[in-house]
Amino acid sequence: MVNPNKITKQRFDLEVYKWEKYHKKELKSIISYEILKRKEITKNIISNNFSKKSINILEIGCGTGDNLFEIVKSNKLWKGKGVDISSGMIDFCKKKYFKEKKLEFQELNIDKCKLNQKFDVIFLLGVIGYLKSNEKSFLNIMHMLKPKGMLIFTFGNKSSIFRKFRQFYLKWPTFPILGSILNKFRTLITKRKPVVYKKENHSFKPIKEKTLLKQLPKELVSITEFNIVFSSGILGPLSIFSNKILEKIFLKRDPLKLAMTKLIILKKMSKQNE
Ligand SMILES: C[S@@+](CC[C@H](N)C(=O)[O-])C[C@H]1O[C@@H](n2cnc3c(N)ncnc32)[C@H](O)[C@@H]1O
Repeated sequence: MVNPNKITKQRFDLEVYKWEKYHKKELKSIISYEILKRKEITKNIISNNFSKKSINILEIGCGTGDNLFEIVKSNKLWKGKGVDISSGMIDFCKKKYFKEKKLEFQELNIDKCKLNQKFDVIFLLGVIGYLKSNEKSFLNIMHMLKPKGMLIFTFGNKSSIFRKFRQFYLKWPTFPILGSILNKFRTLITKRKPVVYKKENHSFKPIKEKTLLKQLPKELVSITEFNIVFSSGILGPLSIFSNKILEKIFLKRDPLKLAMTKLIILKKMSKQNE
């Protein structure tokens, strides 16, 4: 069996400039919208809880470092470290942010390794789903999270009907007729190239919220969650418009399980002797 870490590393080593662009695109595609939205919510949550504190923040799967840079620069008391399995991403971050004294970057596979440093906040945006084992990664995360520290992450919600719909055209050879109709429709509306399914580019696995919550260590208590992406992207710029409407209704409560991506915020309970 192919190791998912290997597929992920190979893919993201090649996608450095693509991810840098996503952060700059400003709402031209649903993926850019998601990236900006999750970054904004994460920044606000950290700010609401730690605005007057000197804290150390760790981003796991930091990619091109844009999340960490923008969050850390918003408060002079904060310092940040970014880690990623992709050496391509980490080399890029080290070059791009070499003047930023408050930022550090290091290659690290969270499935296998941990740092000996402790952090007040740890976040993973768009990373759960690429990991080989959530359980092992969470144990490594717990080792690095201080008591009363905060863990923030997003994940692809497997129960969402919009996510199932997107799979029809992303993996269109699996559903040849419907997939190819949706793929053509998408090309027409978005004026983007047709999706060509490549197995090696699809190492991402959505997960049901219930399953994921069972994998979390017991010391983590849930604070709140946000439902942030409701659109498959098939409607091009209109996807963002429809997403904003659904987000207004379902941001905090999503009884119909529509959200494709959810953002969860948890706190580590402090042990009695700590
Ligand atoms: C979808 S990208 C998101 C990047 C960044 N968080 C952002 O929002 O722009 C996922 C990132 O997670 C990293 N990643 C995947 N598996 C990892 C692992 N086991 N350990 C560390 N990083 C990992 C990938 O290399 C990639 O840079």
